Amino acid sequence: MKLWGGRFRKETDSLVNDFNSSIQFDCRMYREDIQGSLAHAKMLAEQGIISQEDLKQIRQGLESILADVEAGKIEFTAENEDIHMNVEALLTERIGAAGKRLHTARSRNDQVAVDLRLYLRREIEEIIGQILDLQHVILMQAERHQNTVMPGYTHLQRAQPISFAQHLLAYGEQFRRDVERLVDCRRRMNVCPLGSGALAGTTYPIDRWATARTLGFDRPCSNSLDGVSDRDYALELMGGLSILMMHLSRFSEEIILWCSWEFKFIELDDAYSTGSSIMPQKKNPDVAELVRGKTGRVYGDLMGLLTTMKGLPLAYNKDMQEDKEPVFDAVDTVKICLPVFTGMLSTMRVLPEKMRRAAGGGFINATDCADYLTKKGMPFRDAYTTVGNLVYYCGQQGKLLEELTLDELRDISPLFEEDVYEALRLETCMGQRSSYGGPAVAETTRQIQELRTFISACRP
Ligand code: ARG
Repeated sequence: MKLWGGRFRKETDSLVNDFNSSIQFDCRMYREDIQGSLAHAKMLAEQGIISQEDLKQIRQGLESILADVEAGKIEFTAENEDIHMNVEALLTERIGAAGKRLHTARSRNDQVAVDLRLYLRREIEEIIGQILDLQHVILMQAERHQNTVMPGYTHLQRAQPISFAQHLLAYGEQFRRDVERLVDCRRRMNVCPLGSGALAGTTYPIDRWATARTLGFDRPCSNSLDGVSDRDYALELMGGLSILMMHLSRFSEEIILWCSWEFKFIELDDAYSTGSSIMPQKKNPDVAELVRGKTGRVYGDLMGLLTTMKGLPLAYNKDMQEDKEPVFDAVDTVKICLPVFTGMLSTMRVLPEKMRRAAGGGFINATDCADYLTKKGMPFRDAYTTVGNLVYYCGQQGKLLEELTLDELRDISPLFEEDVYEALRLETCMGQRSSYGGPAVAETTRQIQELRTFISACRP
């Protein structure tokens, strides 16, 4: 008979039984479920709601169940619906009456809420660690390439010279915000719903602060209805993970471009590339493509749960059982994407000559040429037009700006002098961009330092 079978006179339809049960996916929260029950039982005993002897038995029972689950000795059943009732049924089977007392002053509604928070809290820690590993690799690559000139792009058109370090460090900043978002999400998540009961608290003299403390939460949630109704923390986490995946996806897109023959700025390691079943020459960036592809999947997880939640009246509704699969999927997806991506990035070979060659075409020193004239006294807008005319002239002559003779330059403006050639060198153009946040080596050094400080401050 079901744990809740008292008021029923018929067996549950077997299809309904399968349909209703969540054990297939919530079994992964067995540890958190046991952890929550241990804290609850301890508090019940401290408050004199159950006896010390009951507590002792419950503790032993739960610990033996935990050990058996971990040893693979336990088969959960759909008959017992979910992880909460599976564990409770096992406990009662093992210790009898004391097991039946565990659920005093508790409901599965606050139980599932506490389990999921505990579970996701741990996953957040792990994901943060993985992002920090990625940032570490970004840092290593950036340190090597502070003087590697590459074209910076807007509209995917060559725009201005930057260093490869500067480009990588931009992602370093994005991932820094991702970590901050997760830290923030963890803080808001770290509130304990246990003791909310089914929805309306309980008449027993429970101590919600005690269970919150035992479980490492900052405090109990303030309102029992909210405690069992709230899934913001899962949504917030998936929101943060979606943004993180968006960053990984943009980075992947660039890696895919960079290792194409059209760019050839980098070469991926063989261990992080795949071949074609028909074209012998192919070396494909499948890892980057899959990360880009899986981003859509994580967005879908977020959209799915947002949509599930949008029409639900307070408090618990069974719809909310649909929270777990998407949030687990989002977490699992991120947890596989991050280390694979990090491995790909740390082993990729950077080809600075190719980047330099690409930077040499496309007039990416045109702004610097206008700045040159401006510094010689011409108003910037006039300098801009003058250089525009020069670029047009170069196009007709098939020359670059720095290939024009001084006479050709002076025909357009007498302000040009011999020092223009130094000013137009890409290394100069990049190196002189020393404004705060710019690509000059002094600035990338500062950014690297900042990122390093951030990483070590986040590591426990
Ligand atoms: N398996 C359920 C879930 O994941 C646990 C809560 C069930 N509560 C209830 N009143 N049916 O949401």
